[in-house]
Amino acid sequence: MPGIVVVGLQWGDEGKGKVSAYLARGASLAVRFNGGANAGHTVTLPDRTLSLHMLPAAAISTKSAAIGHGVYLDIEEMLRDIAKLEEAVGKVGVVVSPRAHLVTPLQVGLDAKIEEMRGGGSIGTTRRGIGPTALHKYGRLGLRLCDVLDGADVGDLVKVWMRLWGGVIPFNPEEVLAKVRGLAEQVRGMVGDVSSLIRTHLASGGTVIFEGAQGTMLDIDHGTYPYVTSSHTTSAAAAIGSGVGLKSINIVVGVAKAYTTRVGAGPFPTEISGPVADVIRERGSEYGATTGRPRRIGWLDMPQLRYACMLNDTDQIFLTRVDTLSGLERVKLCVKYEGVGEPYPETVEALRSVKPVYLEMEGWPRIDEAERERLRLEGYGALHRAARRYLEKVEEELGTAVKYIGIGPGIMDVIVK
Ligand code: IMP
Repeated sequence: MPGIVVVGLQWGDEGKGKVSAYLARGASLAVRFNGGANAGHTVTLPDRTLSLHMLPAAAISTKSAAIGHGVYLDIEEMLRDIAKLEEAVGKVGVVVSPRAHLVTPLQVGLDAKIEEMRGGGSIGTTRRGIGPTALHKYGRLGLRLCDVLDGADVGDLVKVWMRLWGGVIPFNPEEVLAKVRGLAEQVRGMVGDVSSLIRTHLASGGTVIFEGAQGTMLDIDHGTYPYVTSSHTTSAAAAIGSGVGLKSINIVVGVAKAYTTRVGAGPFPTEISGPVADVIRERGSEYGATTGRPRRIGWLDMPQLRYACMLNDTDQIFLTRVDTLSGLERVKLCVKYEGVGEPYPETVEALRSVKPVYLEMEGWPRIDEAERERLRLEGYGALHRAARRYLEKVEEELGTAVKYIGIGPGIMDVIVK
């Protein structure tokens, strides 16, 4: 009866959607517990590619999804996801926590405005209203789904919003409230107690997949603040954001790419530019699933991953995109930052000045469709020796097992070691 958490170990976009859908085969429930419509979980099915923003991608396998109160709820995006998902896989049961905080047009407008005010120091947010929704939630000025549905008098709250923000962005309180009320009515039938639902599944022997959004380095506390998102992205957030205790989580699967990417501003110690970065970006279609922005590219970073493995109590690593990194003559692995030990540097300034020390390794031949087919049948031993050497070096450096290896975009393009 395991609870399995899937978390990103880097700056998001590690391939958690595909990993969750893979691990959820045979599971009974998929849970989202953090983030909001800033996430873009892409899964490649035989006949289409789905990019989900609010629903967990693991629901492709479970057909049953829950959205915990830790998620910043964008109802319109969720309804779009449900339509997309049901067209692809048929009926999906969705339960949404009444305690989830709503993202309204006010928070979306403020996100853009605050970014504009920051000028050159902007975070590069996805402009999905995440920061301002968090600002309202933790300032105890948030609007929850249950408050709207229960007909609570939210007039006073909106008056405070008006006083705070009326002069900052155009804001029509009546319009916003009418829109939110209309949307909330559309999901009334989905509202339910997510915490009990998870417990019921676990108690009856089901497997529950807790699908994290974003990555460890974007965590509001542990990430590269202020270039982070406004929620918790580490494994412990699965408990807090869905309403279960830590004992409901049995296995932590950390997902990392075979290289590193980052979208948006902020420090990135192993970032590279030039032809190799361009090849990886084009081959891996490294463009944001939510915003379409080109992703920044870098080598795999052991100090960063050691930090992330520790914060998440990672049991197993799922290393994705070993195929994207194939076909290069040489690859590099950052094994340390010159003169920097533990703890991981806390400030942006410190991270911007670190000098990565690289181990240069032999690359491995291109993994194309034919090679993928062969590897799926023959397994780990059939992987080119240079790729195995790279993976084993990562394992050795991190002291954590690389149990799964992603060799393509499809859910079953996986080697289990
Ligand atoms: P926000 O979450 O939209 O406020 O954006 C804050 C930072 O997190 C920006 O650098 C975004 O690019 C980044 N970010 C948010 N969600 C994701 C994601 O799902 N993948 C990668 N980066 C993300």
